[in-house]
Amino acid sequence: MISRVVDAYREQMQTLSTIAALRERVRQERSNGARIGLVPTMGNLHRGHLSLIDYAREASDYVVVSLFVNPLQFGPGEDFEGYPRTLLQDEQQLAAVGASLVFAPSVEEVYQKPLAETARVELRGLSDILCGAHRPGHFAGVATVVNMLFNMVQPDVAVFGQKDYQQLLIIRRMVEDLHLPIQVLSAPTVREPDGLAMSSRNAYLTESERRTAARLYRSLCHARDRLRAGDRDYNSLEDEGMQALGAAGFRPEYFAVRRAQDLSDPTGDEAAFVVLAAAWLGRARLIDNVLVHGME
Ligand code: PAJ
Repeated sequence: MISRVVDAYREQMQTLSTIAALRERVRQERSNGARIGLVPTMGNLHRGHLSLIDYAREASDYVVVSLFVNPLQFGPGEDFEGYPRTLLQDEQQLAAVGASLVFAPSVEEVYQKPLAETARVELRGLSDILCGAHRPGHFAGVATVVNMLFNMVQPDVAVFGQKDYQQLLIIRRMVEDLHLPIQVLSAPTVREPDGLAMSSRNAYLTESERRTAARLYRSLCHARDRLRAGDRDYNSLEDEGMQALGAAGFRPEYFAVRRAQDLSDPTGDEAAFVVLAAAWLGRARLIDNVLVHGME
């Protein structure tokens, strides 16, 4: 029964791999009056990704989901080659949640020039801190490909996860600075029962690392609780967070308390904080964050 329902959706859902075919299909929908939604992903979908499609379906009539492992956002020695690619399973899941169209282009389709010569979108400042400080060029790669996808699809609305909080702010800033007529929506982080944020990279964890992994979220929650209780010694919160992660077996890159609005250092009068961390556990680089209202 379920498979018949999925089959029925599958008939409606299409997968396209060229920009020309994508533009033509979306143009038809738009001329019929549809509001177009876009959910950019790198595939290997989990429930976190699928929740974004629910949001996109609420906010639009025709939901395009892109599946593209973007080489421009991976640094040398990072996991571009080994990043899990699971197109068939992704298509099945997307059909079941009611996506309208899958766009799965090749690298050559997206990048018609050598990567080093491709035009880039760069946001100085916001791209150079936290994850950007540890992954030089990463956010230029993200902003560039998202801008390309925005140009290809020309969506009315696009949905991103709070899980990648710095990425979300960078995309909002890009849309603002470049006057793109696109509404950016954000969706809360979907977690495993023990609190670990869902991520394609969780598959890199061994069984014992997987048991440790939820400590990342717990350390963020601990700092959140201290902020809620009125603690404003940001440096100590950060130092203790780094120490707790190190003691649990992570190799932490950063543990930071920032203003939620723009990731600058907190001054005490912010409406909201965000506590963010990035840490290696074995082969996996994990990131996570929690939001905290300032005046609770
Ligand atoms: P990817 O890691 O595949 O994530 C695609 C989208 O899913 C992002 O908006 C991300 O924030 C969201 N997401 C991931 N895990 C989530 C979770 N546990 N809960 C809720 N949302 C989650 O982020 C990228 O791809 C790329 O950088 C991309 C924007 C596609 C550009 O290449």
